[in-house]
Amino acid sequence: MCGIVAYVGYREACPLIIKGLKRLEYRGYDSAGIALMAADGLTVYKKKGKVADLEATLEADTLSSHIGIGHTRWATHGEPNDRNAHPHYSHSRQLAIIHNGIIENYGAIKQNLQQKGYVFHSDTDSEVLVNFIEDIRKETFCSVEEAVRLAMQEVVGAYAIVVMSQDEPGTLVAARKGSPLVIGVGEKEHFFASDATPIIEYTNEVIYLDDYQIAVVRDGDLIVKNIENVEQSPYIQHVELELEAIEKGGFEHFMLKEIFEQPRSVKDCFRGRVNADEGHLVLGGLREYLDDIAKSERIVIVACGTSWHAGLVAEYIFEELARIPVEVEYASEFRYRNPIIKEGDVVLAISQSGETMDTLAAIELAKSRGAIILGICNVVGSSIPRITHAGAYTHAGPEIGVASTKAFTAQVSVLTLMAIAVARKKGNLHEDTFRRFLFELERIPDKIEKVLKNADKVKEISELFKDARNFIYLGRGLNFPVALEGALKLKEISYIHAEGYPAAEMKHGPIALIDEDMPVVFIATRDQSYEKVVSNIQEVKARKGKVIAVVTEGDKLIPTMADHVVEIPVTHEVLMPLLSVIPLQLLSYYIAVMRGCNVDQPRNLAKSVTVE
Ligand code: AGP
Ligand code: GLU
Repeated sequence: MCGIVAYVGYREACPLIIKGLKRLEYRGYDSAGIALMAADGLTVYKKKGKVADLEATLEADTLSSHIGIGHTRWATHGEPNDRNAHPHYSHSRQLAIIHNGIIENYGAIKQNLQQKGYVFHSDTDSEVLVNFIEDIRKETFCSVEEAVRLAMQEVVGAYAIVVMSQDEPGTLVAARKGSPLVIGVGEKEHFFASDATPIIEYTNEVIYLDDYQIAVVRDGDLIVKNIENVEQSPYIQHVELELEAIEKGGFEHFMLKEIFEQPRSVKDCFRGRVNADEGHLVLGGLREYLDDIAKSERIVIVACGTSWHAGLVAEYIFEELARIPVEVEYASEFRYRNPIIKEGDVVLAISQSGETMDTLAAIELAKSRGAIILGICNVVGSSIPRITHAGAYTHAGPEIGVASTKAFTAQVSVLTLMAIAVARKKGNLHEDTFRRFLFELERIPDKIEKVLKNADKVKEISELFKDARNFIYLGRGLNFPVALEGALKLKEISYIHAEGYPAAEMKHGPIALIDEDMPVVFIATRDQSYEKVVSNIQEVKARKGKVIAVVTEGDKLIPTMADHVVEIPVTHEVLMPLLSVIPLQLLSYYIAVMRGCNVDQPRNLAKSVTVE
C-alpha cells in the first residue's frame, strides 16, 4: 500500500510533502520518510511510526528545498523500522526512491547486484529497485529517466515510484504499473501523489498516470512517455474535491464523521438517479449495459472485505427482485482458481478505493475471458473504473477512516438501484411496487438520520461491553451480511474477536461458545424471518448469553427478552441493511474509543490494499 508524495516547483517542499503524507496516512502508517535536495546534496530523513513522529525530528531551518519525495509505509517486505522506511538511497547515495507496491522478482535482482558488490541496508524490495536503476545507469551511462524505463522492462510486480537524483537536481522521474499515481499540474510546479488529496489544495488539474507510463519533470516541464519511449499526450482532468470533505469538520475521528455523514452520502448517491414523483430511476453509467445484465444468466460479484459484504447484500436483492442468480466471490480466491467465466457473463466489481489489487486482478482475469465488467467504486478516477467497461460511482465522498462505513451504505445503495433497474427492465416489477421502492429510497437518508439520534444509547451499551473478549453477530437473510459487517468493524478497530453467522447456523456449532460472558448482537428487524430470529434469541438467553438486539421501531416482543435493544425505523425489507448496519458501526466505534484504540488507523491495516 503506502502513500507517496513528491513535489518540484517554487514552494518549500518539506512542509508541503509532510502535509500531503498526513492526508495519505490512511494508506499506511508503519513509517514515514522524506528526501530533499538540501544544502549538502540529496538527503534522506526517515523514521518508524507516524508522519508526526518524523515531523518532530525535522529541523525546519536546515531543510530548505524546492524538490522532494516523501513516503508513508505499509510494510510488505521487512518489518516496520527505521531501516526499512522509505525513501531508500541507492548504493552510491546518488539516487533516492519512494515506492508503493511489490517487486516480485526482487530476490533474483538482489542476488545479481550483491555479486556486483552492492550492499543493502534494508530488507525491502524497494531498495533493490533503486539499486537496479543505479546499476543500469552505471552500465549504460544513461539518464535516470532512461534507467527507470529500462528497469521497468525487467521488473515484475506492482509499483508507483518516484526517483530523485543528486546529479539531476531539478528532475523527478515517476513510473507506474499496478499502483496508483496522480500528477498535479500547477503553474510552474508539479506534484505526484498516490491520490489527489495532497494535490487539490494547490491545483485541480491532474493526470492519472497509466500502467507502463513514465513521467518526468525536468526544468519545470512535464513529459509523459510509454515504456517504448514514445511521448504520450496525457489527458488533464479537472478534479472536484473539496478540502473540507477530507478534513474532520469538528468530529473527533474521521470514522465518526463518516458514520454521521451517511444521510448526506446516501442522498448524494441517489441524487439525479432516483425521482419518486416522476417515477424514474436512472443509472447513467450503466444505461448501455442494462439490457446485457437483464439478459444474463448469472452475475458474478468480485470484491474484498466490506465491499464483499455489500456484494452479499446485493446477492439477496438481485435474486429477490431481478431473479438472476448471483455468485459472490472473494476477489483473492477467484483470481487463483480457474473460474468458469464465459463470453458475455456479467462480472460486477465492488471497491471503495478502486485500487484493491486482488479485485483488479480478478477483473483482468474475467476480462480476458470475455466477460462484461461493471464497476461500483467510490474513488473517482481510480484504477478499477478505468479498466471496467462501465459502472456507477457511489459518490460517498472521500472515506479516510480505515474502517469502511459510508462507503458500505453507498455501495449497497447503488447495488439496490441497479437491482431495481434490472428487475424493472425484465418486467419483474409492477409499476406500483417500483414507485413504492422509489418512494422508500427517498426516505432512507432521513431514516438514517433518525438511527443516528440513537447514538447515545449505543454509547451506553458500548460502555457495558467494552471489555468483552469475544462477540457474536447474528442475522438472517439480508441481515446476515450485516452481521458479518458488524463483526468485521469490531475486529478491525477494537481488536476484539468477533464472528458473524447466519442466525440459524448458531445451533450447528457457535452455540457452544455461549455463556454469561458472551455478548450476542442480533439484527432482528421485522421481516419474513422475524419469528425464527426470535427463537434464536431465546436459545441464546437460555444459555445466559447477553443479547443486544437491533429491532424495528415499535417492536414489543424482543425488548422483553433481550438485554439491550436499539430501534431503527421501519422500511422495506430489501432496504433494511442501509439502516441496520448503522448501530453496528457506532457500537464498534464507541467500543474502540473506550478501549483507547486508534480508530482511524487501526494496527496492521491500511485503507487501500494495493498488494496481494
Ligand atoms: C473495511 O472496513 C476494510 N478496511 C476492508 O475490508 C476493505 O473493505 C477491503 O480492503 C476492500 O477495499 P476496497 O473496497 O477499497 O476494494
Ligand atoms: N514493498 C515496499 C515495502 O515493503 C512498499 C510496500 C507497499 O507499497 O505497500 O516497503
